[in-house]
Amino acid sequence: MKVKVNRKAHFNAAHRLFNPNWDDAKNQEIFGLCNNPYFHGHNYNLVVSVIGEVDPDTGYVIDMKILKDIIENEVTSKLDHKNLNMEVKEFATQIPTAENIAIVCYNWIREVLPENLELKITLFETERNWVEYPA
Ligand code: NI
Repeated sequence: MKVKVNRKAHFNAAHRLFNPNWDDAKNQEIFGLCNNPYFHGHNYNLVVSVIGEVDPDTGYVIDMKILKDIIENEVTSKLDHKNLNMEVKEFATQIPTAENIAIVCYNWIREVLPENLELKITLFETERNWVEYPA
């Protein structure tokens, strides 16, 4: 029987949505306020979900202390209080939308999570806007 366990995390970060292949007018049309060349910030809330069988010895899918450390090491230490466009190499080549941030978080955690556990990322950019990966 599989169980999904969830852990919340939080980080603050700045970004700018901008496609270097487009001119200023097109970027403004598509991204509006999010295209501000001086950047803007969000208080991101992240939910990391891990799905797997309950270990009969521990009663856990994953020890929450281990999951907490993974999230800190693989995600929040890399993103918290950062300018995503300028300081995080993954966003040198892709636009730091909530969609792309969720995919990057997934890939970072996936690298260190045991293979038998499934992973899902839920990222809130605002209270009203959030994305989930995989969909
Ligand atoms: Ni934004």
